[in-house]
Amino acid sequence: MSVDIERLLECMTWEQKLLQLQIVWRPDGAERAELARRGLGAAFWPPSVTEVNALQRIAVEETEHGIPLLIALDVVHGQFTIFPTPLAQAASFDPSVAADDARVSAIEAGTNGVNWTFSPMVDVVRDPRWGRVVESFGEDVYLASELTVAKVDAYQRSDSGGVASCLKHFVAYGAAEAGRDYNSTEVSPRRLRETYLETFRTGVECGAMSVMAAFNSLNGHPMHAHRDLLTGVLKEEWGFDGVVVGDADGVAQLVDHGVVADEKAAIALAFESGIDMVMGGTLLVDSQGVALLSPEEVSSRRIDDAVRRVLTLKQRLGLFERPYTDESAAVSGAAAEHRDLSRRAAERCAVLLTNDGALPLNATGRVLLAGPFVRSRDHLGAWVQHFAEPVRETLADALARELPGVEWDVVDGAGFFTADDDAIADAVERSAAADVVVLALGEPSGLSGEAASRADITLPEAQRRLIHALADAGARIVVVLVTGRPLVVEDWVDRVGSLLCVWHLGTEAPAAIAAILSGRVNPGGRVPMTFPRAIGQVPIHYDHERTGRPPRIGGSLLNAPDALATDVVAEFTGPNNTDDRYTSKYLDLPLGPRFDFGHGLSYTSFELEDLAVSAEATTTNRLADEVILVSVTVRNTGERDGDDVVMLFVTDEVATVTQPVRRLRGFRRVQVATGASVLIEFTIGRDDLSFWADGEARTLEPGDFTITLDDGTSRLSTRLTVEPA
Ligand code: BGC
Repeated sequence: MSVDIERLLECMTWEQKLLQLQIVWRPDGAERAELARRGLGAAFWPPSVTEVNALQRIAVEETEHGIPLLIALDVVHGQFTIFPTPLAQAASFDPSVAADDARVSAIEAGTNGVNWTFSPMVDVVRDPRWGRVVESFGEDVYLASELTVAKVDAYQRSDSGGVASCLKHFVAYGAAEAGRDYNSTEVSPRRLRETYLETFRTGVECGAMSVMAAFNSLNGHPMHAHRDLLTGVLKEEWGFDGVVVGDADGVAQLVDHGVVADEKAAIALAFESGIDMVMGGTLLVDSQGVALLSPEEVSSRRIDDAVRRVLTLKQRLGLFERPYTDESAAVSGAAAEHRDLSRRAAERCAVLLTNDGALPLNATGRVLLAGPFVRSRDHLGAWVQHFAEPVRETLADALARELPGVEWDVVDGAGFFTADDDAIADAVERSAAADVVVLALGEPSGLSGEAASRADITLPEAQRRLIHALADAGARIVVVLVTGRPLVVEDWVDRVGSLLCVWHLGTEAPAAIAAILSGRVNPGGRVPMTFPRAIGQVPIHYDHERTGRPPRIGGSLLNAPDALATDVVAEFTGPNNTDDRYTSKYLDLPLGPRFDFGHGLSYTSFELEDLAVSAEATTTNRLADEVILVSVTVRNTGERDGDDVVMLFVTDEVATVTQPVRRLRGFRRVQVATGASVLIEFTIGRDDLSFWADGEARTLEPGDFTITLDDGTSRLSTRLTVEPA
């Protein structure tokens, strides 16, 4: 039964329309049912398929128009089977990981009556203080866009249940000043286009059915009232015909932003600006059936447009034909096949940051295993619900199973935030008898996610004390770092021989980590968000713009206390000496970050060779419909099979607007057997070479471009010339 939305609209009263435009948080079942009876448009998942059907039955059978409900939930990286966090998924450089997560989520949530997920979060992030980086796909626009497409597509495919996706948070939420959640943002129009809008544009282009407005203000305008972006760019310029939902009480908070005096004005302003649906506590129509706003306060044309969008979303989801969920088909937990997919995903997300050869571990010998994550099961990460499948085993259990020939000595050593001297001393004493010490350290899940910004992004002090005590005693140390964000690891990273970053890997984390430590799985993940050396470098990202004084050496104060007296006297070097002192750097840091975007090691080694391009020159006209082919061969020069990630970067050598030092425009993760080679092909088109200047569209300027193929350890470049016309 297809519904005639225009006819339906004509039959609806003002109050019935307003009720369709809200999703309220009502944990109380009776109240929820009452709201459904009044014709509410959407509800959060109740949480069971039976309750969903009961609610839908009320909506369909007991309301005048029988409009089914949208049933929403934040299924961010899993419903029952929890996948690695989105940031970890980005580290896989493998869109199939994101697609598997979304497909399994759609099955597990969809068969239980959820038809709308508030995911994916597509905010580009450059400040690891911000707790929500864990929900993001990292700092790079291209990587994040590819994963966005994979996830949106997999959520919305009807063969896996088909839940509507929601791109959030529109827009520039990730640019929160000082990395403090909900904080204001100030972003130039050019950077907004180039960086922050781009992931949303891609998501809309691939058919995302909804978009959520962000809590932040942007250049003085709270996003829930940003008409130019919500209506002008998103709906008019991009032709987005889905639903724009406000974030939790984001509309009411326009009062706190100080742009309206009361909630009524906030709601009117939000609707007029382009919000279609309000999320939060306020009821647009009260229990007596009285509407909060009249058609004099918000235009009925705008309200009709919003209702049309909500009804169309319901139609796209097939809710008018199939409002009920088949309870007999509801998935009740994490099935073995979903857990297998989650484990495979987890194995692909870990990043080997350093390795002195201690990894993979030997199959025999004596290993001391210590640190809070040795026995903790807190691997799910932020944004999971109480019904998520818990982690069943500890890392200690998984390692004992994985490497039965090893003599394991397991101690706590330190807690997450506390360490007593005796426990540390005990670990140090035992380390003397161990060939290697494996420390499982990091951030509990609660330290990242919403409202979890940190001013100090180092490991908690108790854990650092444990590292230093063991290093002082001469132990050979491997650190397994469980984290929701890049951390500053400066004070200890050179004291440990090997560092494996595992993020929060989800339900199957311990098994995946154990498989990597043993070498049964060769790590192939890459850093999706720069690890700074110091908090002072933040915000930091690899694709920074060129400056007039690029540095060649690090800061002169570094490790040179005796030189301080001379180095800080400007006269000795003079204002024209831009070779070293007067360059863009920190006096007290070496150059660059600790771990750059794209960094990641393997248990084998790779070499890139035979870079070839289909043409060394082209023209702006030809690029309108032709692409340049780029190919490169990756050879596994080591002793083990493994995965390499080959990235294609573009540098625009001369442009009228200062460009990034390089931009990712392609990547491929490939499996290469030892001794074998794999040919990889990329294409470069207009989008890859053009940029946003100050105008209304991307510009392609003629000139020279450097194309670099880089796998983190091996790098090849070539020149491409674009001639005018
Ligand atoms: C978050 C959103 C989330 C919403 C609903 C808000 O606090 O910012 O990302 O979708 O809550 O749970």
